[in-house]
Amino acid sequence: MKGRGIGFGKAILFNEHFVVYGIPSIVSAIGNHTVAKVEQWEEAELKLEDNRKATPKYKEDKLEQQKDSLNRMVKKMNINASKNGLKITLEGNLYCASGIGASAASCVAIARALSDYFDMNLSDDEINDVAYEGEMGYHGTPSGVDNTASTFGGLIWFQKGENNIIEKISMRNPVEIVIGNTGKVADTVAAVAGVRERKEKNPEKYKEIFDRAENITYLARDALQTGDFKEVGKLMNENHKLLQQIGVSSRELDFLVSVARDQGAFGAKLTGGGLGGNMIALTPGKELQEDVANAIEKEGYQTVKTVVGASYGGIE
Ligand code: PMV
Repeated sequence: MKGRGIGFGKAILFNEHFVVYGIPSIVSAIGNHTVAKVEQWEEAELKLEDNRKATPKYKEDKLEQQKDSLNRMVKKMNINASKNGLKITLEGNLYCASGIGASAASCVAIARALSDYFDMNLSDDEINDVAYEGEMGYHGTPSGVDNTASTFGGLIWFQKGENNIIEKISMRNPVEIVIGNTGKVADTVAAVAGVRERKEKNPEKYKEIFDRAENITYLARDALQTGDFKEVGKLMNENHKLLQQIGVSSRELDFLVSVARDQGAFGAKLTGGGLGGNMIALTPGKELQEDVANAIEKEGYQTVKTVVGASYGGIE
């Protein structure tokens, strides 16, 4: 069908927040994705129908940002939406919540669907640029890690810079994870601003934390490539501690992290902006994945069971 596009959800395995300051990060696309469909609309307007399933209040909270995001993307693509009369429908199996890349997945899906509808034939790099523009509607000046994972798929090394470094990380086999949702919609912009403020007040302490975060990414890449999941888990635990130290965890996130670890997860940490949103647990093997997901659900929280490191298309 013409006028259709998808964008992957994502999970940041290492260094959300640190990535904003040019420290390398590791991110994976997940199997769940958002689908956008573009069709002709009888009114001279850009109509959006959002049929995605979402955490309560998520869509309401993000409505204004979503409009801004959409306007930015059509402008960047030189589309006169109100003249054309367009309807965009969002759906798919990515549950909208903070930290799972819902905004980036929708931006990528919309960019792809518009490119397809108007026969623009945009490359992945161009789709990524349009989606980044859309992400600015949600996040101000995001690092670009989310839209990159959402566009290219797979497991990615991402480092922000004058030219971003984007490299594929190869794993022998994808590995199971559980994503646990605190059910709290979090404000990434506020979380990022809070880190900046505290960092400016405590430059020495933060330098030490940031240096360790950088170090962890290199160790984590090696461990992921060799399939040493015990080591990956240990590094995820350490990464969570650093994220706690920069003030972006929360009571619920720490609780779900400890539930996952008690159940035998190799490692667990918050994922994404923090202060609510989602956590991620490394659970190699279907059985452990099931156990950890059940333990989290027993406490009354939703989970997503998926894998990281699968190639869904992607970069070479
Ligand atoms: O909350 P999310 O899933 O949008 O993740 C944001 C990731 C941050 O590193 C906190 C911000 C950024 O721009 O990279």
